[in-house]
Amino acid sequence: MRTPERLGFDTAPKAQPTGSADLAENASPLAGSALCVIGGGFVGLVSAAGFADFGHSVICVENNPSRLEKLKSGKIPFYERDLDELIARNVKRDRLSFCAELKLSIKGAKAIFITVGTPSGKDGRTDLSALDKVIQSLADNLEPNQVVVIKSTAPVGTARKVKEKIALLRNSSDAISVISNPEFLREGTAVYDFFHPQRIVIGGDNQEATELISNIHRLGMKQNTPIVVTNNETAEMIKYASNVFLATKIGFVNELAELCDKIGVNALEVARGMGLDPRIGSDFLDPGPGWGGSCLPKDLSEYIGLAHAHDASVTIARAVREANLLQRNYVVSKARDILGDLENKRIGALGLTFKAETSDLRNSPAIDIIRGLQREGATILAHDPVANGDASQLLENVELCDSAEGVAKDADLLIILTEWKQFQLLDWKKIGDIMKSRYVLDTRNLISPEFLRGNGFTYVGTGVS
Ligand code: UGA
Repeated sequence: MRTPERLGFDTAPKAQPTGSADLAENASPLAGSALCVIGGGFVGLVSAAGFADFGHSVICVENNPSRLEKLKSGKIPFYERDLDELIARNVKRDRLSFCAELKLSIKGAKAIFITVGTPSGKDGRTDLSALDKVIQSLADNLEPNQVVVIKSTAPVGTARKVKEKIALLRNSSDAISVISNPEFLREGTAVYDFFHPQRIVIGGDNQEATELISNIHRLGMKQNTPIVVTNNETAEMIKYASNVFLATKIGFVNELAELCDKIGVNALEVARGMGLDPRIGSDFLDPGPGWGGSCLPKDLSEYIGLAHAHDASVTIARAVREANLLQRNYVVSKARDILGDLENKRIGALGLTFKAETSDLRNSPAIDIIRGLQREGATILAHDPVANGDASQLLENVELCDSAEGVAKDADLLIILTEWKQFQLLDWKKIGDIMKSRYVLDTRNLISPEFLRGNGFTYVGTGVS
């Protein structure tokens, strides 16, 4: 077990972290701190291992015994690129360890980062029960100068309520600082994102505490990384506004793609032409089957719920949610247009996760689209490079194949639903030879239309015909 004093971690670390952003050029005068990260999920593990790589001494608390066992034996419970290596490296350096005991793990930590799940509740608002549980166990055991940091995405006002609750539960007059420090990690590139953030957002009302959290980040970041220090509510809202805006941007480009499909204009070229204007920006302008995952849907839902509770109309956010559901139907209608009728058609689905480089199937458009195709009488075979196992729990009457070739055999249509790079590298000539008819519906615009057409395929993309 870590004791920070024993590891000497309130002095500058001796070993140079290797994963951090260009540290050689940015040798930091700051010192590593003892930290505790509560929650061994996606955000918790990336943050714990990332902070450890900066030079901090981190204990990650995970109370699920089987998950903890996995972590202790060096296994990651989900797929996230480069995370296994980052964890292994820092465990080996004795900077990162895993523990079930919250009380023991927070001992001596300067900051305690809470990263537990905050899913949507039945009413569409955020379910804060996991966070509440942590606060209950934490409050009485906190040391006077420890800073509690909420990294979980939590509704506006949560940090203030947590601070009040801690004060109520503690038999002490010390006021514990509570910081809102939302994360902006994308699944699939989370390790890269951790080391190359666009900005760090720190909300709080105590300067010493906000400076501590800034310094914890600064230790491993490029020194010119923008750090936005603000109050708790603003920090909380920055997180929601960012995700709602990203969903809006994708919603816009999907709508544009449908219009382009109908009038024969190339939406990718339009998006490129638009995106070169820095006021618009070229990121998040890729049309596709609609956005999914665990974050955009739940954050949009909380944002709309918050607006409803305060009588604000948020017409745009509501339309974005509606349009995203319709996008799935639009994909099904395109399959119907290609094949005339889906009854008894054999359709091969390539990709099931909500985007590439993740094993996450939550709110994946692929799942809804497959169900929509099945409703119209199609027989579905599917393949995902990492998520076949989990998909078998979600999909009924779908044959899950180990390879793209298995999916393509005798298929009337292949539909690309996730932008896995592997699909670009397939032997498309061979795929064409084993299909019944050479139709490809590429919802992600992954493969070159010219290339496929050159190999005898009929190609339909999204906003690209
Ligand atoms: C999103 C945000 O991008 C992160 O900044 C944030 O930290 C995270 O939510 C969170 O709140 O934890 P993530 O859910 O991992 O990250 O996925 P994104 O990369 O945002 O993609 C979301 C969906 O939009 C995916 O289904 C993706 O395929 C789709 N997408 C994205 C498009 O259809 N087109 C695009 O141009 C970009």
